[in-house]
Amino acid sequence: MTISIRRPDDMHIHLREGKPLASYAADTTQWFARGLIMPNTTSPITTPEAVSQYRAYILKAVPAFTPLMTFKITRDVKPELVSALKKAGAVAGKYYPKGATTNSGDGGEDVGDFYPLFQEMEREGLVLSIHCEDPTAPVLEREVAFLCQVERIVHRFPRLKLVIEHVSSKETVSFLKGMPETVGATITVHHLLLTLDDLLGSGINPHLFCKPIVKTKADREALRAAVFSGDRRFFFGSDSAPHPRRMKECENGAGGIYSSPVAIPLLAELFVENGAEALLNDFTGRFGAEFYGLPLNEGTLTLTEDPWIVESEYHGVVPLWAGRSVRFRRMLT
Ligand code: DOR
Ligand code: ZN
Repeated sequence: MTISIRRPDDMHIHLREGKPLASYAADTTQWFARGLIMPNTTSPITTPEAVSQYRAYILKAVPAFTPLMTFKITRDVKPELVSALKKAGAVAGKYYPKGATTNSGDGGEDVGDFYPLFQEMEREGLVLSIHCEDPTAPVLEREVAFLCQVERIVHRFPRLKLVIEHVSSKETVSFLKGMPETVGATITVHHLLLTLDDLLGSGINPHLFCKPIVKTKADREALRAAVFSGDRRFFFGSDSAPHPRRMKECENGAGGIYSSPVAIPLLAELFVENGAEALLNDFTGRFGAEFYGLPLNEGTLTLTEDPWIVESEYHGVVPLWAGRSVRFRRMLT
């Protein structure tokens, strides 16, 4: 069996910085033509200069790839900067609630503090990308607890395009169904495949720990139903977030799942098993681009059925599905 899809987009990816970036980026560009690059690097992307420097750095490592840049929303980002951020290549600003995840200590404490910035983003046509979790709520309820903040923004800024990133719960899926067309959502491959039992059911597996945490079977079913319904507001964003093994296998281990090397073949397998292979192309190569108002990628990616075992480590990072079999591989053309 072979499957051909338009070259896909990853609408949520962490490439990090410094020396490891080239390896992470190479794993991504094997599969993806473009990626929406998250700005939560150690030195955050908050200025037009940082956006263009980071973009140039990525392009130097992977010239054939198109990085879609973002800036991180902090108190330092004044509304007057928005137009220059856009000119520097940013297509979205990312809002992190303070303390919700990796490098978010400079995140927001109240969305209301950023209304002047959101107003400028709405005017300039930039997308507001949201890490939708209230870190003060119990861990399994964090995403749902933040939805009222999203609702506030949507009502206040009816023309602002907004993406709830890495949706993980059935309540958020229902919430999205009731939202206007300006509200989209990314879904990761790990939230489509895993539940808490994979993380904790037979010995703790820190390499499957991420924010938001994977949840119950009912939540996973709701995510699958959303994707398999062909609803254009749900599109693929891997949230592939590499952390070196020693940062995961320790006390207070970091959140993040490294899925870039396996995301597309695992999605293909899931879609095929659910009789939904005809929908894979739109989920990975059309809905995200359309939401962001981007042209569709040229070219095709062909997968062929030829099982392989995922390596136990990539550049010191344990990937999703390490040591397990994957049914499809990329056909080299
Ligand atoms: O699991 C996660 N890891 N979730 C995020 O939101 C951030 C990411 C990271 O940067 O490590
Ligand atoms: Zn992320």
